[in-house]
Amino acid sequence: AALNSGCPVSGKAASFNPFGGDYQVDPAASLRWSRDEEPVFFSPEIGYWVVTRYSDVKAVFRDNILFSPSIALEKITPVSEEATATLAKYDYAMSRTLVNEDEPAHMPRRRALMDPFTPAELVHHEPMVRRLVREYVDRFVNSGKVDLVDEMLWEVPLTVALHFLGVPEEDMDDLRKYSIAHTVNTWGRPAPEEQVAVAEAVGKFWQYAGTVLEKMRKDPSGHGWMPYGLRVQKEQPEVVTDSYLHSMMMAGIVAAHETTANASANAFRLLLENRSVWQEICEDPSLIPNAVEECLRHSGSVAAWRRLATADTRIGDIDIPKGSKLLIVTSSANRDDRHFESGDEFDIRRENSSDHLTFGYGSHQCMGKNLARMEMQIFLEEITTRLPHLELVPNQEFTYLPNTSFRGPDHVWVQWNPDANPELRDA
Ligand code: HEM
Repeated sequence: AALNSGCPVSGKAASFNPFGGDYQVDPAASLRWSRDEEPVFFSPEIGYWVVTRYSDVKAVFRDNILFSPSIALEKITPVSEEATATLAKYDYAMSRTLVNEDEPAHMPRRRALMDPFTPAELVHHEPMVRRLVREYVDRFVNSGKVDLVDEMLWEVPLTVALHFLGVPEEDMDDLRKYSIAHTVNTWGRPAPEEQVAVAEAVGKFWQYAGTVLEKMRKDPSGHGWMPYGLRVQKEQPEVVTDSYLHSMMMAGIVAAHETTANASANAFRLLLENRSVWQEICEDPSLIPNAVEECLRHSGSVAAWRRLATADTRIGDIDIPKGSKLLIVTSSANRDDRHFESGDEFDIRRENSSDHLTFGYGSHQCMGKNLARMEMQIFLEEITTRLPHLELVPNQEFTYLPNTSFRGPDHVWVQWNPDANPELRDA
């Protein structure tokens, strides 16, 4: 079949569907055929060129002029008129933040807002993160069975994100609902009847973000990234605009929360499925930092990202016309045997684990990467110390919210014998 620019679409490319089937089970494994046979292909299902090899994905990230990030947060499934009307009712106007901002606006803004992410600043958050994790573990340590996602991995990164942004802790339950809707709204394929409900939640999230921002504006002297942004705005109003701050207030919560929650859930699943590796990190916690990196490589929480070709170009030996949309599949790149020896193997001693592309690469690379790493390390340090005898509840089925990009199991059920908890023995 000749589709788009007359390019022939192979059978496997034609049947590629990132909203279901093999991609949802394991995106990297589902695209092995592509890495080996057809590393750049057009998917009629989504209207995107799909890029799956490490070197190609990295090359696309490297050039943010030729490959613009402007579509990174665009809805991947066109919305119904009704849903559009619902969003309009809430004056929904999510626009450029950082992640989808082109040059020359992006770099000055990124630089102006970088300070709160420096290692020196992040150190201040460590005691807060550790205290939170300990409190959550206290609640279930004697229970013997728990869903780690519901009881800890979802809420702790949300609370950390709110602290980091400088938002008050109230409205947690609403936020949780809203941020799920945002993921479906942006990266999913909601059924027509779901779309209006999703739009309602997204609209409310947008308004809530605006209300919190206005509260902060009255007194922007506090800690956190948003008050910091409000202070920078006074000095550089053309760099840090109102529209940016409102969009970032909402996008920032999602960027910091779901990515980290999902990455942590993926890490626990992977480590506990490889029980001897879990045993190793329990015995030698100095292995944890690289184990985190290897988890981010092998089962990252961002499975794919997006770019727009701003000129005719080539990727590998495929011609890409100007205006083409690209789905760059980081999860596939991260398991490319051409860069990672036996890429499917999970090896916490791998020397180049941190070459993974889960945080992106180049001028837009994730600003929060070290905060996310810190959270994941603390989760693992606390649980390997207090519940080293933990194991996955056998035969559980892991489910994922169907979407192209954000990836983590909805639940991770674990069990242990509370009578064997080390803290009872040591008490
Ligand atoms: C950008 C992933 C956690 C804030 C990004 C990008 C990815 C990503 C893929 C786009 C990179 C690119 O285009 O090259 C992740 C993952 C996380 C995580 C996997 C957790 C495991 C966080 C946290 C924060 C954060 C905790 C904030 C506290 C940002 C910001 C950007 C960004 C502000 C935009 C940077 C720019 O465009 O200049 N992240 N992220 N992220 N992330 Fe994260």
